[in-house]
Amino acid sequence: MRQTVLDVRDLEAGYEPGVPIVRGATITVDKGEIVVVLGPNGAGKSTLIKAIAGLVPITGGTVLLDGKDITAAPAHTMVRLGLAFVPQTENIFPLMSVEDNLKVACGILMPRETPARIEEMYGAFPDLARQRRTAAGNLSGGQRQMLAIARALIVHPKVLVLDEPSAGLSPKFVSMVFEMLAGIRKSGVTILLVEQNAKAALAIGDRAYVLVEGKDRHEGIASELWNDPVVAELYLGQRRLNPERDRHSGKGSAA
Ligand SMILES: Nc1ncnc2c1ncn2[C@@H]1O[C@H](COP(=O)(O)OP(=O)(O)OP(=O)(O)O)[C@@H](O)[C@H]1O
Ligand SMILES: [Mg+2]
Repeated sequence: MRQTVLDVRDLEAGYEPGVPIVRGATITVDKGEIVVVLGPNGAGKSTLIKAIAGLVPITGGTVLLDGKDITAAPAHTMVRLGLAFVPQTENIFPLMSVEDNLKVACGILMPRETPARIEEMYGAFPDLARQRRTAAGNLSGGQRQMLAIARALIVHPKVLVLDEPSAGLSPKFVSMVFEMLAGIRKSGVTILLVEQNAKAALAIGDRAYVLVEGKDRHEGIASELWNDPVVAELYLGQRRLNPERDRHSGKGSAA
């Protein structure tokens, strides 16, 4: 049976009064799903998930987490409520060791649970185990994202919300991050993902939304959206969704 974990209705949010960036966005994420939010640059994708996470003022609409209204919940209460947010940048403490990064992320766990939970993360992410004493700032880009994601997962969130976890990574690490997310979903974690890398995100996602000018303009099954002409249309002028296909058909690419 479908169980909605995150229910975002008609959300309106922005940085300055009277200037909404998110303008009536409605998205849902069901238990065990990976839901992807795509959209052109500046569409408001980051603002949408930051607003959900309590980091941008909400001026309209509602956010329910497992049926509980968290619309007005401050950001620092989100982890306890079950929502873990991984921002695009500054998502680890670079001067602290990998292990200390994990320790400080355990904040809401009982202190006696912490060592075992850190070992569980090392089991899931062996690269982190090998580098437990390394300063997080010295990790590779892919390993840093791994650490950021482990820090979010360590407290057993109901939903993991990520902003462009593959941004700025080399192709090898991009695939690593997406494989990691697919694995995390398999372990039963619900994921809301904003991504520029539409192809890779749709490959691991269940459903996806296209956000344009702060509003969800299109929704569908992730595997079907890649070739959906409406999606290409919504991206036109920004970036072609499927530059490879266009190259083969001789149309060129605006990517
Ligand atoms: N801190 C901020 N203060 C004021 N305006 C902001 C702030 N951050 C973003 N904006 C504005 O909000 C709009 C949406 O930005 P946002 O970063 O949410 O888009 P995005 O879809 O995540 O884009 P991208 O694909 O480039 O990451 C843009 O016009 C941007 O200039
Ligand atoms: Mg963004």
